[in-house]
Amino acid sequence: MTIHIGAEQGQIAETVLMPGDPLRAKWAAQTFLTDAVCVNQVRGMLGYTGTWRGNRVTIHGSGMGMASLSIYANELIRDFGAKTLIRVGSAGAMQQDVGIRDIVLGQACTTLTMPSRGIFREINFAPCADFGLLHAAYTAAQARGVRTHVGNIYSSDVFYDERPDLNEIMQRHGVLCVEMEAAELYAVAARHGVRALAMLTISDHLLTHDALPAQDREQSFGDMIELALQAAFP
Ligand code: ADE
Repeated sequence: MTIHIGAEQGQIAETVLMPGDPLRAKWAAQTFLTDAVCVNQVRGMLGYTGTWRGNRVTIHGSGMGMASLSIYANELIRDFGAKTLIRVGSAGAMQQDVGIRDIVLGQACTTLTMPSRGIFREINFAPCADFGLLHAAYTAAQARGVRTHVGNIYSSDVFYDERPDLNEIMQRHGVLCVEMEAAELYAVAARHGVRALAMLTISDHLLTHDALPAQDREQSFGDMIELALQAAFP
């Protein structure tokens, strides 16, 4: 047990999928895993461990924002031995050719700041995905015929952003979408020599103001969970 994760040693798998929403972790585990067992519910942050095609998997919520994700990623890696962490989340598109429901694989992250900033200080560390996971996810997405983009993403500290000029600069530099967790996941994973990837479904569009209809969210999220499992166990 750790401060934030009530699991016993051995109850967390080496492969962990991390949605932001704990109830999505529960839904995904009950929908896609065999023999899913709840291994954490401290502060309502649900984690489940089960198997997918014979492979042990944990699906554990990260909460919203890098500060929250950082707590869970650190404990999952340092205290429970997680070796592969895949964020499965949503993002707002920042380019015209990135559409609602498209998948974005975060190859690298742009930030203004992140929890690990205090460690890097003058270093402009470039948080990037594990290439093996990225490649496996892209291959799986292509095989399913999913519209997929790979590139730079913006990990923001705020959802309600008062600085539209920042978005405009990022758009001009080809940043694909905005989300709120991946950069810190990549930094923590790099520090501990484990693999990480952020796989994102576009839920809203900053340029067109389109949004994924509520009734389509579960379907899109489920498709992404299957992709993440295929990437983890190619
Ligand atoms: N996640 C989904 N849409 C987002 C947005 N527009 N900004 C930040 N995070 C998001």
